[in-house]
Amino acid sequence: MSFRVLSQELAEKLSRVRIIPVLSFHSAEESLRLGEILVEGGLCAAEVTFRTEAAEGAIRAMRKAYPELCLGAGTVLSVEQLSRAVDAGAEFAVAPGLNPEVVRASAEKGFPFAPGVCTPTEIEAAYSLGCVTMKFFPAEAAGGLALLKAMSAPYKHLGIRFMPTGGVTTANAPAYLSAKEVVAVGGTWLAKADDMAAGKWDLIRQNVLSAAALIRSLEA
Ligand code: 3PG
Repeated sequence: MSFRVLSQELAEKLSRVRIIPVLSFHSAEESLRLGEILVEGGLCAAEVTFRTEAAEGAIRAMRKAYPELCLGAGTVLSVEQLSRAVDAGAEFAVAPGLNPEVVRASAEKGFPFAPGVCTPTEIEAAYSLGCVTMKFFPAEAAGGLALLKAMSAPYKHLGIRFMPTGGVTTANAPAYLSAKEVVAVGGTWLAKADDMAAGKWDLIRQNVLSAAALIRSLEA
């Protein structure tokens, strides 16, 4: 299957989950605790970032315990991290920026990868590497939905779709999700690393339930 088709399929997969918690775990145990909350709360998606040493073990543990999760690796900055994410059982990977070496390695592995973009030049570079699904980062700081709409308008005919992250919350997620260019949004607001470390699981459960309710309200 071509990398472009894989990238299109990634858009479809992300559009089924709509809100993706961006996660930095301190341990695999922590990821299992969160996985349970996500599955029970009906928010079956997770982006496990390689910002901590625990990432690979967390992906492996979540994959095994919660096969129903749409499980991605985030902040994948090197081919080595990409290989570890694939081996651990991630279904897709993303990064804040566009590293052609990592995108090419993903294409070679036949593994879906969405690089981060926030300029037309980056969109064109990502598209030329075969990507039609891209992370839009840092969404709010860069100009939010207005920037995304203006910047992506010339490429409408190419079928490029975006996952905005960076400053997304339950307050602005509905506006992003109502845009047809947007397949899903992601963010750390659902389960912050500090809150997990402090054992604030009730707060996190509440955030997950609110996000799941938001998705249901958008579908209604
Ligand atoms: C990401 O990698 O997607 C961002 O760190 C998410 O940004 P946020 O912390 O503003 O949600």
